[in-house]
Amino acid sequence: MTSPWAGLKLVVTGGGSGIGAAVVTRAAGLGADVLAVGRRAGRLAEVAAKARAVGAGTVVPYAVDVTALGAATRIAERAGEVLGGVDALVNNAGHAVFDRLEDAAEADLREMIDTNLVAPALLIRALLPLLRARQGCVVNVSSVGGVLAMPNRSFYGASKAALNSLTRSLAVELAPEVRVNAVLPGPVDTGLWDVAAGEDADTLRENIVAGTPLGRFGLAPEVAAWVCHLVDPETSSWVTGSLVSVDGGRTA
Ligand SMILES: NC(=O)c1ccc[n+]([C@@H]2O[C@H](COP(=O)([O-])OP(=O)(O)OC[C@H]3O[C@@H](n4cnc5c(N)ncnc54)[C@H](OP(=O)(O)O)[C@@H]3O)[C@@H](O)[C@H]2O)c1
Repeated sequence: MTSPWAGLKLVVTGGGSGIGAAVVTRAAGLGADVLAVGRRAGRLAEVAAKARAVGAGTVVPYAVDVTALGAATRIAERAGEVLGGVDALVNNAGHAVFDRLEDAAEADLREMIDTNLVAPALLIRALLPLLRARQGCVVNVSSVGGVLAMPNRSFYGASKAALNSLTRSLAVELAPEVRVNAVLPGPVDTGLWDVAAGEDADTLRENIVAGTPLGRFGLAPEVAAWVCHLVDPETSSWVTGSLVSVDGGRTA
């Protein structure tokens, strides 16, 4: 029997590392063709080479800053050219700063809103004609930070809360042609935590684990599996507007 993933076309932002790379690898492994977007061309090329070695779907790297003026249009044009259509957009690229509001740089606060909210919205808009043409879907990679209090990361939490709101509103606005869902990861062991590296990093990690009922950080492939579950037309064609927590129990 043919896999429902064979021939699916995905655009994945932040596809060169962490959760995004795990989504690209899983989707391509299942047979999908993927446009993998990110700023670091080298990281995207590594992910594409890994997928090539597995030998199912094709991964095409596209090095672009999703917050750059006109980026959404360029990504949509590139997706049309190299994929010939889009079944799913995974808005995964994210910017996170660990700082008290009074200490955070204004540029970082603006970059979080640009990367975590404005870029996903513009990308959904730019890809809509392609998504509508194939009854496609969007999966936004949000965060439990969008539903929990996030001291010392308040603006990050606010940007993800806004992404959650965008997800639910667009799910209704774009139905029935395009489904829109979000995955809300808890703490996942990726490079995102490198920004917290330093003398407090060990304490931070210990506190995170202590506050997580399942007692550990999540792994990128564990989150990628849920992203792909929401893309999968066989499992999720009647699911839209859902905010799915994958968080080791942090929001229980
Ligand atoms: N790790 C966690 O604990 C956790 C928890 C909840 C939610 N999340 C969310 O999960 C998503 C992925 O994060 P991660 O944990 O996998 O960390 P990560 O490895 O640092 O991934 C972030 C990705 O976003 C890309 N990116 C950032 N700014 C970009 C821009 N302006 N243009 C294009 N790409 C950009 C980065 O690639 P380049 O630097 O190459 O551009 C990178 O691949 C983020 O939205 C994050 O907020 C993570």
